[in-house]
Parts: sequence; structure tokens; C-alpha cells
Amino acid sequence: MTVNWSKKFSERSITMKASAIRELLKLVDSPDIISLAGGMPDPNLFPKETIAKIAKDVFENHGGKALQYGATEGIPSLRETLVKEGLSEGIEGLKKENLIVTTASQQGLDLVAKIFINPGDTIIVEAPSYVGGLQAFHAFQANFVTVPLDDDGIKTDVLEQKLKTLKKDGVNVKFIYLIPNFQNPSGVTLSLQRREEVLDISHKYNVPIIEDDPYGEIRFEGEAYPSLVAMDKIGNVIALRTFSKILAPGLRLGWIIADEEVIKKLVLAKQASDLCSPSATQYIADEFIREGHMRKYLELVRKTYKEKKDTMLKALEKYFPKEVSWTKPEGGMFVWVNAPEYIDTDKLFEEAIKEKVAYVIGSAFYPHGEDKHHIRLNFTLPSKEQIEEGIKRLGNILKRKIK
Ligand SMILES: Cc1ncc(COP(=O)(O)O)c(C=O)c1O
Repeated sequence: MTVNWSKKFSERSITMKASAIRELLKLVDSPDIISLAGGMPDPNLFPKETIAKIAKDVFENHGGKALQYGATEGIPSLRETLVKEGLSEGIEGLKKENLIVTTASQQGLDLVAKIFINPGDTIIVEAPSYVGGLQAFHAFQANFVTVPLDDDGIKTDVLEQKLKTLKKDGVNVKFIYLIPNFQNPSGVTLSLQRREEVLDISHKYNVPIIEDDPYGEIRFEGEAYPSLVAMDKIGNVIALRTFSKILAPGLRLGWIIADEEVIKKLVLAKQASDLCSPSATQYIADEFIREGHMRKYLELVRKTYKEKKDTMLKALEKYFPKEVSWTKPEGGMFVWVNAPEYIDTDKLFEEAIKEKVAYVIGSAFYPHGEDKHHIRLNFTLPSKEQIEEGIKRLGNILKRKIK
């Protein structure tokens, strides 16, 4: 008799849902559609030759270790390198005991969820927020409380108000999840003043901050702010970092910086998950930094992405109706479009596909899908010509909807 699988699956797996983005991306995986949807780096920029040279060296000189299991915490030399980088960034007193290598940030989010969230536990997220983070927390049956963003990042007055109410109701808020730089999906950056306020609130209400920062290094204009983990002096911040946007997502490597007690728990959680991240790519990423290639590569990335972002902003001015507004990011990979509330961008998506252009529906970035008049646009993967043509097509569709 065939097993009735639905009777066997855990409650957790039943509440899991496919990411709207990944489902939509399946539809747009066709060469004649201009995709402004995915969040991928430009593969033409990957430093393929340098990585090939380094890989050859790694396998010739460290082959035994690079092809072997490694420590769950990460290979010692990469952790040393990352600690050095963290210290030079201003994270005072950072030691290797504060750092674990992960199979990129998505695993970081999963591990964080695993060690903090019991079913029904309350967490605070920005609205909108990264869909993969929401998905990871949802899998552990979190109760989401949302706090809106404006051009300076999370609205700290609303955050404090919500925490005050939750405290009064006796709710133990497990963490605040923030993407402070060039947020995915909105492209906005948390201002310096708001960073200070968020940390004060974290200290006052005794709630840790998960600082997910894949894009901080991809600032192509304006002034950089210190990271929350560098500003915080009492260890309340758990920082998730990744090589995916500063080198290559195919390496599947990231790291977490946190209080030693948290790292110890993460190590246990990671052991059950994958024992260790790939040793081979850890050796490669370590050599890439040690040989000094990162700075030059990041210069190329910033220059190219700035040009593409400028192309997109210019095209938006030219082709989008005046009733529609959008963010003007100083880095990262996304522009967030705000259409009038009567335009349902979920419904618009089908029309866009008919006209051979794709975007990500705004509702995917809200835990309860409540907001339906935003669009996320990616400017890093398409060429400048595709950006211009894609925005022109989208602009025409939007113009037809304006009342
Ligand atoms: C905010 C944010 N966090 C985490 C990730 C996951 O990236 P990765 O697992 O490749 O490090 C992404 C990817 O787009 C992201 O935008």
C-alpha cells in the first residue's frame, strides 16, 4: 500500500510554502522574456580566470584538506582572514570564537531560525523584507510583527511603540530582523541616526538584532555607515555576511559574527544540518582575499552596477507615468517601485509576461502578502539595453492602468 505522505509530514513542513519569487522565476526562465526579476549578480563580472588559477593552486597544494570534511566552524585560515577583516572594519574585540562559516547567508537565516524560534514565537521584521528570510522564519512557525520602512530604513518610532505594547503583553520577542544596507527589496539604507536608535531600542528592550548584510560592500555612491555589529558594544547583534554578492553565489559561502554563546549553539545546529561548509570553496575564497583580489573585483562590481542603476533610473524617468514613484539606491541590486494603490501588481504580472518583461511582485515581500502595489526591479543581471527596453514595456503597461 502506498504511504499516505500527507499524514506523515511534520506540522512544520505543512506550513511551508513555495517562495512566490522562485515560482514566478520558473515562468520567466525563457530567453525571449526580459527579466528584471531575479536577484543575481552579473555573471560577466565573475573573476573566472583568477578563481581558476587559485583553484588549481588550492588543489595542488592543499588538495587533501580542500577535498576533505572540515571543522563545522569553518577552516581555520578563512576564519582568521574574516576576523582580520572584521577587526579592520571596526568590530572591536572580534575573535575567532565569535565567527562561524556558513553555507552562505540563507543557511545563516535557517540556523538562526532553528536556534531561536519555537512555534508561535514573535519576531519583528521590516515591511517589506527579504523573501528568503521570511521563508526561513516561516518554516519554524514564527509569529511575524511588521514595522514599516521609509527612506531612512525601519521606522524606529513604530518599532519602539510595538515593542512597548508587546512587552506590556508579556511577549518575549526573539529578535528584530534587519537588512540595513540597500535593503532587499526596497533598496533603502538605514541612516546613521536610525542605526543608533535601533541599537538603543535593542538594549532597552533586551531584544537581539539579526543584521543581514549582503550588500554593504556594494555601495557605488554616497557615504558608508558603520555596521550595527561594529557600533554595538554589548554583543546584541548577530551579523550575517556572505560571499554571494561580493564574489560569487556559486561558492555558497557566508559567515556569522555573534556572541560566543550564540556561535556555540549555531555550531550544534549546523552540525545537524551539513556538518561543514564546502572546504574547497573556503580555501578558494580565503586565497582570493589573501592575495588581495577582493578590492579590485569590488571596484569593477561597483562601477558596473552604478552604470546599470543609472540606466534604470533614467529609463524610469523617461517611460514610467508620473503617478508612480521609486527608490534611488546608492548601492545594492534593487529599485522598489511604488504604484498607486489601485494598481494590483500581482495581477499586472500576467500582462507583463505577455509583453515579455518580468519583475517580482511586491506582495512576496510581506509576511502576510498584504501590500499589492509595489514592484521590485533588479538592475544587475540584465544588460543596459535590456533594462531600457524592459522599463519601456513596463511603463506602457502601467500607463494603461493609470486612472
Ligand atoms: C537580504 C538577503 N539575505 C540573504 C540572502 C541569501 O544569499 P546567500 O545565501 O546567497 O548568501 C539574500 C540573497 O539574495 C538576500 O538578499
